Amino acid sequence: MTPRKIIIDTDPGQDDAVAILLALASPDDIEVLGITAVAGNVPLALTQKNARIVCELAGRADLPVFAGCDAPLSRPLVTAEHVHGKTGLDGPVLSDPTMALQDRHAVDFLVDTLSREPSESVTLVPIGPLTNIAAAFEKAPGIIPKVQEIVLMGGAYFEVGNITPAAEFNIYVDPEAADIVFKSGVPLTIMPLDVTHKALVTAPRIEAFRQIGSEVGHMVAAWTDFFERFDKEKYGSEGAPLHDPCTIAYLIQPDLFSGRRINVEIETGSELTRGMTVADWWGVTDRAANAHFVGDLDAEGFYGLLTDRLARL
Ligand code: BDR
Ligand code: CA
Repeated sequence: MTPRKIIIDTDPGQDDAVAILLALASPDDIEVLGITAVAGNVPLALTQKNARIVCELAGRADLPVFAGCDAPLSRPLVTAEHVHGKTGLDGPVLSDPTMALQDRHAVDFLVDTLSREPSESVTLVPIGPLTNIAAAFEKAPGIIPKVQEIVLMGGAYFEVGNITPAAEFNIYVDPEAADIVFKSGVPLTIMPLDVTHKALVTAPRIEAFRQIGSEVGHMVAAWTDFFERFDKEKYGSEGAPLHDPCTIAYLIQPDLFSGRRINVEIETGSELTRGMTVADWWGVTDRAANAHFVGDLDAEGFYGLLTDRLARL
């Protein structure tokens, strides 16, 4: 089978880093056309740098990395250093990347790349706030039919919010961007907290990363170890959710996941529930389905796949 062409839009973030590594470790399944960085977990100057650190760690200094929007479409940026640390990739000691950042703006890369590709041929994988994707759709609506699918991490319904009681971080940061993307008509697969909170990185799973014995294994163990402390304390669970790699694992092995095709809309008006993903799970409205909203996964299968693939780098 030809590998699926994707663009990863990201705000690394330790879990973003693991998602990028999983994609780069899976060239038979996935061809990464480029990585676009967005402001989110930490400001853009750090997310674009972190994306390059991760590419170099995977031995892919040739992969183009672009810096995109440094703030949401119409609101001030909210960041999450309290979860990811000051650098966004706190945990192991990191050196500055040597590979260059591309000159072009990430939004222009998205527009140019999608413009020249055939219809429904490129999958977008946003794992941060949706600012870059929405800005590209607004700038050049003609690219929308070129997108095969958007597989994103964001939102929450039964699991409720992680940045406010109602909202998940990625959607909360730029709800107007999310609204544009959710109404774009592109087939959406959504990995909300409902599923990512079942993908817990426990001590034995971190140890399995370490046992890989490579630099990648060591880094992923150190990142997930750092990440785990905060979330373990917050949720009182046996490990922290490893959110963003669920998107890439879904592209490689969709049968690890289950969900429903439903209508999902974004709250942009209320301050109290800003960024809430209003998911019609029970079909109580006649609003047309616009998303495959994932609710469950085979966590053992997911961690087996992840550890196996990371060992290939
Ligand atoms: C999402 O927010 C970020 O902190 C993580 O990287 C993930 O994309 C989880 O709410
Ligand atoms: Ca992220």
